[in-house]
Amino acid sequence: MIRPVPLRPDGASFGFDPDELRAAFSGRTRVVLVNTPHNPTGTVLDREQLTLIGELAAEHDAVIVTDEVYEHMIYDGRPHVPMATLPGLAERTLTISSVGKTFSVTGWKVGWVHGPAQLVSAVRAVKQFLTYVSGAPFQPAIASALALPDSFYAQLAGDLQRKRDLLSTGLREAGFRVFDTAGTYFVVTDVTPLGFTDGAEFCWSLPERVGVAAVPVSVFCADPELGRSLVRFAFCKRDEVLAEAASRLVALRTAAG
Ligand SMILES: Cc1ncc(COP(=O)(O)O)c(C=O)c1O
Repeated sequence: MIRPVPLRPDGASFGFDPDELRAAFSGRTRVVLVNTPHNPTGTVLDREQLTLIGELAAEHDAVIVTDEVYEHMIYDGRPHVPMATLPGLAERTLTISSVGKTFSVTGWKVGWVHGPAQLVSAVRAVKQFLTYVSGAPFQPAIASALALPDSFYAQLAGDLQRKRDLLSTGLREAGFRVFDTAGTYFVVTDVTPLGFTDGAEFCWSLPERVGVAAVPVSVFCADPELGRSLVRFAFCKRDEVLAEAASRLVALRTAAG
């Protein structure tokens, strides 16, 4: 059974309730799944939050599986804290990353997992019986990409931070309530100020009305009600595409009166 602990709107960003996290653990907890930077909310969990998760996992002797595929897309000088670097956690943590995000090749489906040998070996056994291998011819390209200098990662984050600001400003001007994005290439908005209550309905109609696509946050939530009025936009696009999208979205406010 999965016991989700939601990230809830908390001022301009999202956060989890430590008591809710504690209450989600029980004698039956075997695996704790963590995602930071987080899709869809753009939340970056800080050292204190990750330490609490790690302490609870250790107390319950659970394995931590941490999805850090947006590890290099983090803004405003914030550090990404890999779960496995916290004291005592390396021995119980499997860390996942993916080239799809870092090298802008979503769809290639090449990634990696690292951790203690016996846990990695369990992952390899599962992989063997699921998909066996994915995109083997892409792997030499990824090996070259992994040799890129640190400046590549700095430029990636710098470019995306500018794009985040471009889209967030445009969405605010268009009348959305816009949450802060600390990492990933997504920005979450609330469509309530535009006169809508259902994010999914809003997203279904958006391409036809203004030629812009977005994803309702409810599809990511174990309890869809939590994300009912929230909508996710992506800013991994050319600057001129973002500017055009923002100007088209202004038309919505005009339409809503
Ligand atoms: C948090 C998170 N993990 C994993 C993935 C999957 O990455 P890939 O397509 O490279 O397998 C995604 C893709 O959207 C994601 O957002």
